[in-house]
Amino acid sequence: MTETIERREPATARDNTRKVFIKTYGCQMNVYDSQRMGDALAKDGYRPTETMEDADLVLLNTCHIREKAAEKIYSELGRIRLLKADKASRGEELRVGVTGCVAQAEGREIIDRAPVVDLVIGPQTYHRLPDALARVAKGDKVVDTDYAVEDKFAHLPGAEAPQIRARGVTAFLTVQEGCDKFCTFCVVPYTRGAEVSRAFGPIMDEARRLADAGVRAVTLLGQNVNAWSGQDVAGRPLGLGGLLRALAEIPGIGRLRYTTSHPRDMDDDLIAAHRDLSALMPYLHLPVQSGSDRILKAMNRRHTAADYLALLDRIRAARPDIALSGDFIVGFPGESDADFEATMRLVEKVGYASAFSFKYSPRPGTPGADMDGHVEETVKSERLQRLQALLREQQTAFAESLVGRDVEILVEKPGRYAHQRVGRSPFLQPVVAAADVGEIGDLVTVRIAATLPNSLLAEGSGAVRAGDTRNVA
Ligand code: 5AD
Ligand code: SF4
Repeated sequence: MTETIERREPATARDNTRKVFIKTYGCQMNVYDSQRMGDALAKDGYRPTETMEDADLVLLNTCHIREKAAEKIYSELGRIRLLKADKASRGEELRVGVTGCVAQAEGREIIDRAPVVDLVIGPQTYHRLPDALARVAKGDKVVDTDYAVEDKFAHLPGAEAPQIRARGVTAFLTVQEGCDKFCTFCVVPYTRGAEVSRAFGPIMDEARRLADAGVRAVTLLGQNVNAWSGQDVAGRPLGLGGLLRALAEIPGIGRLRYTTSHPRDMDDDLIAAHRDLSALMPYLHLPVQSGSDRILKAMNRRHTAADYLALLDRIRAARPDIALSGDFIVGFPGESDADFEATMRLVEKVGYASAFSFKYSPRPGTPGADMDGHVEETVKSERLQRLQALLREQQTAFAESLVGRDVEILVEKPGRYAHQRVGRSPFLQPVVAAADVGEIGDLVTVRIAATLPNSLLAEGSGAVRAGDTRNVA
């Protein structure tokens, strides 16, 4: 819906040195979207700023996936209300927008509850942000939560502005958005809409521009990225495996990743791409959510624990060094002790290199929220603690297994100290290395000397005492 719900006195004309502060919550898709909004606004004369106090426009790019995300936004808006009043007392103006999934879910309610907000824009209409701001400048309040994903893909990528968008040697690239899976716990199909794949040509163009701007590692994004489908330039049907093969041919792009995937969409060609493409990193985020078939069914995951394990066998056969990551939910309605133990057993069988785990959080409007058998908070907490302890153990064991081994890193940024650089392993771990290891953007091989809590230390990176974590990037 697009509506104008209130008129106020026209605002005074602004010069062209306006500043925008975008606060991003949630997933990498939101990070990407925030950058695209920044690009769209740059064309409109806005420069980014690091603090809210310095801004003429504040955008909260919100997430609705878990917990009291909306409540967090309202308390942030409470603080912004004070800031706006403070600025007004100095004759300055502050415009406030809420974007992202809370915007999509709550729409005009946000303005009703927090009148400090001038505009509410859902994830599918960011390309209309400059228009919306022009209406706000005339004194309107704007709510725009249409579903028009094709439009977004057509307008947003900022084809003309690659220089603004390359912020280092790694970049995200959205290739797919939305989800048709309807897992019963998940709000995504409602906030991000149906699955839509971006066309092959624009994806390739954007990747080439990124490579030209110095990007060496590209992560393809989508809520269900491995459901991507399209056609190559000759009109032949293509899945994500085919897209990755084409992207791997682009000079300069040394590393490819994709996230997040659903087990049902890991097709043979995508698995073969893991075997064939050295640029495709041996790291796969493949959420399973639970190890209990009963709960998987209630979650509408449409696979069993055995299906998932068999799939991992096939992936590991194609790429034996692949490191796995997953998402887990504990305390889904009806989850018994035995169901939870099944999750623990599945984790033991898989051996994850990293993982994310959450307590089930009922999302209004999703089927899970209305199911019987909601699990006590204390039980959820106990289960989460046990699961996280096991996952942490596995993550540490994986990191330690790399000590003494040669690992290729992409040098990504300066280190904390002048004699250091920070790179990233194929398995997404930060690696602290010596400054002379290579230039930022280089792919170099280093030997891992030690592990720190959340990173690895390469040989020659400078002495660190045991337990000294100051060198962590
Ligand atoms: N409660 C808890 N976790 C959730 N996730 C998605 N919805 C919920 C929810 N209602 C988790 C899933 C998903 C990840 C992105 O967030 O594990 O894979
Ligand atoms: Fe949500 Fe399931 Fe779709 Fe992932 S696959 S976005 S968990 S509905």
